[in-house]
Amino acid sequence: MKKLFAKKNTAIIDKDRLPKHIAIIMDGNGRWAKKRGLARSAGHYAGSERFRSAAKYLQKLGVEHFTVYAFSTENWKRPEDEVSGIFSLLEKYLYEAIDDLKDDNIVLSFWGDLSPLSPKLVELIEQTDRLSAKNDGMHVNICLNYGGRAEIVRAVRSVAEDCASGAIDVSDIDDKLIDSRLYSKNTPPPDLLIRPGGETRISNFLLWQLAYSEMYFTDTLWPDLTDDKLEKIIIDFQQRNRRYGGL
Ligand code: IPE
Ligand code: IPE
Ligand code: MG
Repeated sequence: MKKLFAKKNTAIIDKDRLPKHIAIIMDGNGRWAKKRGLARSAGHYAGSERFRSAAKYLQKLGVEHFTVYAFSTENWKRPEDEVSGIFSLLEKYLYEAIDDLKDDNIVLSFWGDLSPLSPKLVELIEQTDRLSAKNDGMHVNICLNYGGRAEIVRAVRSVAEDCASGAIDVSDIDDKLIDSRLYSKNTPPPDLLIRPGGETRISNFLLWQLAYSEMYFTDTLWPDLTDDKLEKIIIDFQQRNRRYGGL
């Protein structure tokens, strides 16, 4: 009897009120590996597999934009072998993405300063750009060598250059103009930010774009954040009242 009651009250996702844009800080890979007595690299591998599955799940659900934090401007502080391991995983992912992009129908973009990346990685990213141009499915944005502050500095420089050249007037500067100079141009801001891994901070992610995002922090480590858990988080999001400063 109890079971029936519980089942009857099990909330399900309202497909008409899906978050259009979900952003995730994919944190906790290292601790996931440590808990199992494995090398941190095993955690990054598990995290990359979780990302691929989560993208498939969210696309099937009908989410339009999915943005993930893969490597921050601060992550260069890590030991060299960990950094090179993360970039090797990225290379592997890109090769597989190139094979799968046509069927997956995702529009893959990379947000961040790609200039320090190896020529091989840059070439693979350019290839995914060309293939993505033919797709019209979910937009997947991978933030790589990304920092929210660096993104804002880049936008400010671009606006300042246009002011100096006379292309725009100082009075033309508004929210919309700044938006258009960010990596996220043409993308609505995240409705929902999820941070697994137990930390309750932003760590320099999407500083401009998160102004009115709903935040969800969980102790679950990223490789353990299953589709079922994502479903529960979306249901939680749908029960919130977003006021944007109004009543
Ligand atoms: C997130 O997991 C992945 C990157 C930052 C590249 P971590 O590597 O930060 O995992 P923890 O926080 O040490 O567990
Ligand atoms: C944030 O995680 C960056 C990514 C997940 C790519 P970190 O592990 O680098 O963040 P901090 O150091 O705990 O703030
Ligand atoms: Mg971490």
